[in-house]
Amino acid sequence: MQSVILNNGIQMPAAGFGVFQIPDETQCMQTVCQAIEAGYRLIDTAQSYGNEIAVGKAIRASGISRQELFITTKIWISNAGETQAYSSVLESLEKMQLDYLDLVLIHQPVNDYYGSYRALTKLYKQGIVRAIGVSNFYPDRLADLALFNEVTPAVNQIEINPFHQQIDAQKINEKYHVQLQAWAPFAEGRNGMFTNPVLTEIGSRYGKSVGQVILRWLIQRGIVPLAKTVRKERMQENLNIFDFSLTAEEMQLIASMDRQESSFFDHRQAASVEMLAGLVR
Ligand SMILES: NC(=O)c1ccc[n+]([C@@H]2O[C@H](COP(=O)([O-])OP(=O)(O)OC[C@H]3O[C@@H](n4cnc5c(N)ncnc54)[C@H](OP(=O)(O)O)[C@@H]3O)[C@@H](O)[C@H]2O)c1
Repeated sequence: MQSVILNNGIQMPAAGFGVFQIPDETQCMQTVCQAIEAGYRLIDTAQSYGNEIAVGKAIRASGISRQELFITTKIWISNAGETQAYSSVLESLEKMQLDYLDLVLIHQPVNDYYGSYRALTKLYKQGIVRAIGVSNFYPDRLADLALFNEVTPAVNQIEINPFHQQIDAQKINEKYHVQLQAWAPFAEGRNGMFTNPVLTEIGSRYGKSVGQVILRWLIQRGIVPLAKTVRKERMQENLNIFDFSLTAEEMQLIASMDRQESSFFDHRQAASVEMLAGLVR
């Protein structure tokens, strides 16, 4: 697996596996075991996914040494604030039965994220977390946090897919040396992503699927994709993206698909904040 170097010098795999919407413990454990067996080393979970225990069990069952894995979790908004965020990360470690995490992100720019970031900075300095960062931070919030904190976020995990390409956001994140991760690289299949004619045609030139074309496009933009699947054969497929390259013309064709809007919701709308606040208390 190729890797990227974060702004604090640590290595992170160039592609990762996400476990959003796999709440069942047995299924999640089995899925993560299969993903690690397929070759994934970056596993992305979150306090709000309700599957940290299963992820921890899979890590122990995988037979792969802890140092070879890169484990991420995220602090949910109900755990925001310096004291609570700090203890919530210790709770996540306890659930996963781990003694350190590779990356912890603030899941949303909602509630006391400054306090949460102070907690993360402390955990980072204590060596309990190897890198700290954010998720769903639009350029203004990212610049704010980066400018007024001693430790610059190492990662910002945002929605990026051919319908929502985040070109301007990428420029700002690069300016602050923040590595982008793409969530919902397939937009969860919305808006006919998997049957899109542009992506299908490009894939046919290489004998690759639409999913592989999207993941390759992200890799070539310097973005780390996080794909989710519960199917073993798709895990292999989604990892088999390092043996071909898209041309400048193909990158341009995909660039023309940008609708510049989320397939889910805009985090900057008051209704979105209200929806998130009501999700997990
Ligand atoms: N930070 C955040 O706020 C946030 C938000 C959302 C997601 N995430 C992270 O990003 C990860 C990925 O996002 P996501 O799970 O929402 O969406 P996604 O990866 O864009 O899409 C997942 C969907 O695509 C299907 N799929 C996967 N590979 C496929 C392939 N090769 N061909 C056809 N269908 C395929 C999966 O079905 P099957 O499972 O049936 O294969 C599933 O329905 C999450 O698991 C999570 O770790 C973070």
